[in-house]
This record gives sequence, C-alpha cells and structure tokens, in this order.
Amino acid sequence: MKRTHTCGELRIEHIGQTVTLCGWVQRARDLGGLIFIDLRDRAGITQCLFNTDNPLAGEAAQVRGEWCLAVTGTVRERSSKNKNIPTGDIELDVTGLTVLSRAQTPPFEIEDDCKANELLRLEYRYLDLRRPVLQHNLAVRHRAMQTVRRYLDGKGFYEIETPMLTASTPEGSRDYIIPSRLHKGKFYALPQSPQQYKQLLMVAGMDKYFQFARCARDEDLRADRQPDFTQIDMEMSFVDVEDVYTLAEGMIAGLFGAFGIEIPLPLPRLTWHEAMERYGSDKPDTRFGFELRDLTEATRGCGFGVFANAPSVRCIVVDHEFTRKEIDALTEFVKGLGVKGLAWHKAESSSFAKFLSEDELAAILRVAGANGAPGAQDGGGKYTLFAIADEDGLVKTTLGALRLECARKLDLLKPDQYNFLWITEFPMFEYSQEEGRFVAQHHPFTGPMEEDIPLLDGKDLSKVRSKAYDMVCNGYELCSGSIRIHDAGVQAKVFDLLGIPEDEMQRRFGHMLKAFTYGVPPHGGIGFGFDRLVMLLCQTANIRDVVAFPKTQSAVEPMTGCPSDVDAKQLEELGIGLDME
Ligand code: AMO
Ligand code: AMP
Repeated sequence: MKRTHTCGELRIEHIGQTVTLCGWVQRARDLGGLIFIDLRDRAGITQCLFNTDNPLAGEAAQVRGEWCLAVTGTVRERSSKNKNIPTGDIELDVTGLTVLSRAQTPPFEIEDDCKANELLRLEYRYLDLRRPVLQHNLAVRHRAMQTVRRYLDGKGFYEIETPMLTASTPEGSRDYIIPSRLHKGKFYALPQSPQQYKQLLMVAGMDKYFQFARCARDEDLRADRQPDFTQIDMEMSFVDVEDVYTLAEGMIAGLFGAFGIEIPLPLPRLTWHEAMERYGSDKPDTRFGFELRDLTEATRGCGFGVFANAPSVRCIVVDHEFTRKEIDALTEFVKGLGVKGLAWHKAESSSFAKFLSEDELAAILRVAGANGAPGAQDGGGKYTLFAIADEDGLVKTTLGALRLECARKLDLLKPDQYNFLWITEFPMFEYSQEEGRFVAQHHPFTGPMEEDIPLLDGKDLSKVRSKAYDMVCNGYELCSGSIRIHDAGVQAKVFDLLGIPEDEMQRRFGHMLKAFTYGVPPHGGIGFGFDRLVMLLCQTANIRDVVAFPKTQSAVEPMTGCPSDVDAKQLEELGIGLDME
C-alpha cells in the first residue's frame, strides 16, 4: 500500500476518493465493535473508522498507541464533525490495514500538554519530537532557514562552510578542545564562531559570505544558551555600519514577514550608554516602561543615610501597588544580585519617607516622575517606586533586572509582541577586575569609531567606543557584529592595549596579521543566534524547544548519554592519561 496523502490533508472535496495514509496511532478506541483509530503524521491527524461488520475489525482491535500503520479507505463525511482539527469534516472508512511496526507503550503520553519531566522526554527525544508542538517548532526552524538562505542568496551572498576542527577563536568563552592523534599533545578547538575564517574569506575576495555555522562554547548554560548552537554568520566587504544595518533589517523583516509578523523598519536605535541609563541592560526589553531615573543629585545629603552619601542612587516606578509580601520577595530578589537592600515608596506607605523632609521627598518624586509629577510613569495613579543605592554599575544592572522581574510578575511580557532595536556604540574595552586589565568588549578585531581613535592614546580606555552593534528583541541579544579593523597599525595597537604580548599575538593571530598585509578590503559583519530567532518565532522561552537534540542545563545529552567514557585504547592512541583525582 503506497501512501497517497498525508494525515493532515483530507477535506470535504476528497469525499468518495480511495486513499492510503501512513502514520502513528494517536488513539485507538473500541466502542463495542465500532473501532476508531486516530492516525497521526507530521501534517496532522485523521480519524479512521472500522464498522462492526468490517472484516478488519478483529485486527484493528489489536492496535495500540504509537503503532505505525498504513491504512487504505474511502473518504466520507463525518456525522459529528470536529471543528478543532482541519481534517475534522471527514473520516476514513477503512478497507485495508497493514501494521508496519508495533510499538511498546511509550514512557509518556505523546501530546502537547505532556506532564513528563524534561529529562525523561530528552532521553526519548525521538518520541518527544512526535508531539505536535515540537513538530511545529522544527517546521518553523526549517522554514526560517530556507527563508534566510533565499534572502541572502538574493543579496549576492555565497554560502561557504568553514572548518569544525580549528584553532581557538577569541569570542570570550571557553573552548571545547579535541585532541589530535597524529600530533600527540596538540589540540584542535571547535569554533566558538567562524570569526577569523570569515574575515580571511574577505581577504580572499569572496565579498559576501554567510553560513549557518555550528558553534560550540563551554560556558554556563541558561534558558537561551546551548553548548553547541547555530549562528547565521555573515561578513561583507566594502561596507559601513549602515550597510550592515540595512542588510540585517531586511533579513529580519523578511524572515518574520514569512510568518505573518510585520516588523516596521528602520529599527529604532539606542546607544549602549543610553540603554544602560534607561534600562540598566545592554539587551533591554522595551515591551514595557519602568525606565530607570537617576536620583543621585536629588538625594545628596538628604536625611536618609543610605541615599545621602551613596555613589549612585537610581529608581524605577512601576504602575502597580505591590503588597508588603511582594516587596519582601523583590527585596530578596535584588539582594541575590549583590545589593544591600531595596528602598520603596508608595502613595500610602514608604520605607524611607520618614527620614526625609517634605522638600526632599518632593524632589525625589519629581525626578522619579511618580505621584502625578510631570512626565509621571504612574499616570498619577497607583504606583510603587523602588530605589537602590550602591556603585553605579551595580545599581543600574540590578534595577534593570528588577524592572524585568516586575514585568514578569505583572504578566506584561507578551510573546506575540516583538520589540526589535539596535544597540550601538558599544565601549571598545571593558575593565576586567579578574584579570586586572582592559579586555575587548566584543573581540579584538572590532574597529574603533573614527572619532575615538585618538582616545586609544589616552589613559581612559573605557571612553573608546567601537563600531560594534547588537540587535535585541524582547530582552534577547539576537546578534552581535562590527566593522572590523583593517588597518595593521590600529590592529597592532589594539593588541598592545589589550596587553597581548608580541609572541602570543603572533602565535594566536599571526596568520590574520600576515593575511592583512596582502591587501585587506574594509569589511564588517554580524552573527545572529539562529536558535534565538526561532525561539521568538515559536514564542517559547526555552531554547531546547527549538533544537532537535538539545543538551540539558548541565551540558548532557540524555539520549546518547554524552559526554561519555572512551576506551582506554582511544586514550592511548591520543597519548592521554586520565587523572580522576
Ligand atoms: P557573539 O559571540 O555575540 O558574536 O555571538 C553571536 C550570537 O550568537 C548567539 N549565541 C548563542 N546562542 C545560543 N547559545 C549560545 N551559547 C550562544 N552564544 C551566542 C547570540 C549572539 O548574539 N563572531 C561574532 C559575530 C561577529 O562579530 O560577526 C560572534 O560570535 O544570539
Ligand atoms: P536598614 O538601614 O538596613 O534598616 O535599611 C532601611 C531601608 O533601606 C530598608 O527598606 C532597606 O531595604 C533599604 N536599604 C538598605 N540598603 C539599601 C540600599 N543599598 N539601597 C536601597 N535601599 C536600601
């Protein structure tokens, strides 16, 4: 019996046709001889019916969930229609049944609101993936990939693969390394990104490159991070920042447009500095307000000791009156981020008003925009003001996190609202307390803004801005990129400022520097987190929902059990001994 249709295809107009479907048994019901089998494939579900007098009824009664069947029959109109599924108007009156394979009882129900824990589902991922929601997500992922490919091909990009076994790249994460058998004691690294190769492709005259690049980074995992993930990696020659924006915006608008989501262009832009000032984050979620306000001036020398002398005092105003219990929970939340406390003020009660004169309080509320003051964020109605005093950087990032937490509690994070924006003018360097020196904020090939090049000779590197940019949506960093340095002198200076010694510079980047002496075009590019784009399209906050075979939070893949032991012989061949102390 050869398949003629999918299980999602049949409609009223097929009535009377003889068809063959193949699929898995979603449900088998025996109503006293009248047997219904719901057959499922990736396209949908079709009801198959065996009447009491059907000679196949005996065989059909044996059928259990998840058996794989081929079913032939006549399409006919259902007497009681199911409005919830696209095939709900018809059913199949079965005339032929082949059991293609039987199935054990699955360890969990194959349905969307499956209650089984994720570890069990990942162990049986091939069953988990049969659930319609995951079938949908992988279909979206596929369609997204094809849409992007078509767009970039249309813009003259070449799709070029770069090596998986490579030298370490400086993306700022830890490498996954692969021991070499032929060169004992030496190692390949899996790419954290194809950064150096794509720049070398520009030296090679490829002009416009892209790749769905598999990348691997050994870092702490979060809901939007996998140890191996996919980037839409791109690089272009003879471009400036605006060209990259235009190209990337067109790609995103086309991609989301293919799913019926309109993204108005051009995207809004915020400088990094402004994002930190207003949202306390370099990947702000702009679906809601509660912007940060600076109270430092307004609280200098006021009656509340916590505020009076603090290096920085900032606040947010949330248009909701939180209860004491909720405020206590939010206080614990911010303390977990390293600040000492959370001051709060509502129209009726306050943790600090009692320490202040009327004027001092009025000054704070004016700057905060609370209490119906001009520009009030609370609209003059119910509100809670939260203020934190501490080092300025910590105050901003903590209020940034608190802002999100409040929005989460108030259910303001609507997954079908998409707020895209660019974050621009990133600082070129950031000071690493751990290493006691400046490190590259992006990677060391990122170009400085023209007007800030003189600052490279100054003392305060934190002031140098780069030609780096991120696209952000709903609090996700979707991509990073930059216009690269193509001037050997500037590049050498940057390596020098980063404190990378000459010999290390030659060892790690010698090939790049050499290549750049053979006529390097000005170039720039960008890398999109493809998994994150699919998360947005599928409206899920869990990256594992959009990856076929994902790893857990502790970087384990429960189905194959990796990472796993290797044979002693393999280790011996690699010249590796294990010290398990
Ligand atoms: P960056 O390191 O910012 O830039 O990475 C680009 C984008 O990749 C996504 N991403 C991840 N997604 C899932 N899991 C992870 N562990 C993970 N890490 C990163 C993010 C991020 O914005 N070579 C540069 C790009 C360039 O300069 O052209 C780069 O890799 O969405
Ligand atoms: P305390 O002086 O510790 O009793 O704190 C008095 C009030 O100020 C309490 O509501 C604390 O939560 C709050 N508070 C303490 N430290 C800070 C801080 N660094 N920033 C904001 N509020 C604080």
